[in-house]
Order: sequence, then C-alpha cells, then structure tokens
Amino acid sequence: MKDFIRDIPKAELHVHIEGTLEPELMFSIARRNDISLPFDSVEAAREAYQFQDLQSFLNIYYAGANVLQTERDFYELTRAYLEKAVRQNVRYTEIFFDPQTHTDRGISFETVFKGIDRALSEAKTDLNISSRLILCFLRHLSEEAAMETLERAIPYRDRIVAVGLDSSELGHPPEKFKTVFDRARRHGFLTVAHAGEEGPPEYIKQALDILKVSRIDHGVRCLEDEKLVDRLRIEQIPLTVCPLSNVKLRVFDRIEHHNLKKLLDRGLCVTVNSDDPAYFGGYVVENFEAIQMGLNLSRNEIVRLAKNSFVASFLSNDVKQKYLEELDDLTRDDL
Ligand code: HPA
Ligand code: ZN
Repeated sequence: MKDFIRDIPKAELHVHIEGTLEPELMFSIARRNDISLPFDSVEAAREAYQFQDLQSFLNIYYAGANVLQTERDFYELTRAYLEKAVRQNVRYTEIFFDPQTHTDRGISFETVFKGIDRALSEAKTDLNISSRLILCFLRHLSEEAAMETLERAIPYRDRIVAVGLDSSELGHPPEKFKTVFDRARRHGFLTVAHAGEEGPPEYIKQALDILKVSRIDHGVRCLEDEKLVDRLRIEQIPLTVCPLSNVKLRVFDRIEHHNLKKLLDRGLCVTVNSDDPAYFGGYVVENFEAIQMGLNLSRNEIVRLAKNSFVASFLSNDVKQKYLEELDDLTRDDL
C-alpha cells in the first residue's frame, strides 16, 4: 500500500508555502539574513512543534516566516517544496501564499511573489510539475488590509488563480470579507476559504453563499449540519482535508477518530492534503499513509481520493480527464 500511495499520480490543493519551511532551511536562511530565531537548534525547533489549537500553531508559524526576507529566500523555500512534491508523484499543486505575513514586516509584495513564481516556472520545465498560486488574506486582519493586498495582486492576475482566507478562524467569519471577495471575483479570481476547521458549519455556509467559493479548505465540521452535508454532496463542493494537521491542531484527538471516511461515505468530494507539512509531520504521501492506516481505507478509497484531487483542482477539463484516465489505466487490474 505504501508504494501504491507514493506511485499514483496526485494533486495537492491545500499547502501553505510558508508552512513548508523545514527547520534546516529556516536556520540556514536565518544565518544568511542575520536574524535570531526563538529556537536554539533544528532539533529544538522540531520539539517546539506541539500545538494546543490553531492559534498556538499560528504563533510559531509566523515566527518561522520572519526569516524570509529576499526574493532568493522565497525562491529556495518554494523550490524545496516542489522537489519534495515531485518525489511523491505530485503532478500538480495549488499553493497558498500569505503576502500580509511579509508585507507587514516591510517585505514588498513583489519580492514575495517573484521568488515564489520563479521557482514555479522553473519547476514546470525542469521537474515536470505544474502549479497555480492562491493568495490568502489573513482573516485576523481587517478587510481594508485585505483590499490593499488585493490591489497589489491585480497586476499579477494571470499568475494567481484564486484568493482564499486563512489564519485564526474563530471570531473572523467569512462575511467579514464580502466586499474584497466581490472585488476579487470581478477581476477574474476564483475563490476558496478555510472554513469549518475550528469554526462552525455556519462559516462554511457563509463561504459558499457570501464569498461564492469553489472549494472549502478543511470543512470537516460540516458533519454537524445534515442539510449542509446534503448540499455539499449535491453540488459536489470539494473539501481539501488535511488529516495530520487536524490531529496536530487537535481538531481530532487521534487519526483513528478522523471523520474523513464518514465524509467519503456521505458522497462528498474529499481530497487529502498536507497544509503545513514542515510543522505537522508530513507531506501529502505521509497524510495518505496516516489516514489509510488510521481508518483502514481500501485501495479503492485511495484511488477515489487521488481522482478527487484532480477533479477538485482548477485544471482545465481536458487536463483533468488526462489524469483521470491515467489513474484508471494504472489501477484497472487492481479494481
Ligand atoms: N488554518 C488556518 N490558517 C492557516 C493554516 C490552517 O490550517 N495553516 C496556515 N495558515
Ligand atoms: Zn490551511
């Protein structure tokens, strides 16, 4: 099963580029930029990655992101993620980035964007992995701040497929960002939002009705609302679920108690993703392995999850079809 999970083609749809910053790279960039870190060593950093909830993680995640200063830093960060993804047979990835985490420290939007974008363009040719970018607004900040960030991004609209919403969920409902999402859609951005990770099903409904999202990031709390589950199934709204993240941030107390199989059994379009792999103990393959073992998923279910990752993506229908056929060909003998 391990080899099977690694070898099948996959797409990753929920990964924060700042969350791929491994402690080794964090230390090397910190040294280069002469920045002090709140950890004494790589090992101490890894040991500090014990979280009580989303906020306790975000505090450490933002501290780590502080080391990123130059275009080269953002390039190296992105390149390292793409090299790992390719080794796991991730063929296509939609990557979140959080410009405000950097612009609020005086790093320009251009520095962040250009470093990431250069790594993505290069990898399309030399690593054979394609990707798109999703700009996330930090929901603990104001809508005006999100609007300023959107203005910075509009010149790069052809390189940024969608806008999303991340950071502290509770107390920051999707409706807070109606105006900026309306404006983003008018400029041709698709929309997604983190909702129903720690927040209630009501936030998922707001994301759909007010922000007009194409997908829900996380969304695992939807099961608390039967009517919402029916709607997600009928409309086939994808959920980008992140199993190891949910355990690390105590959304579920252990992987065996994760609701991913229930979501699949209810007919929802569920995908498996890594969220912040450097902090949560694994990339997409480790997430597949953990959830497969924790919930005793069948090969059929693994194939379904891999297929969903392409179905739920922002790829064109033609390209989606090509990946789905490849998965069918690879697994025909198994099924
Ligand atoms: N939730 C909200 N914000 C985030 C996350 C997450 O899982 N990861 C990085 N920013
Ligand atoms: Zn996330």
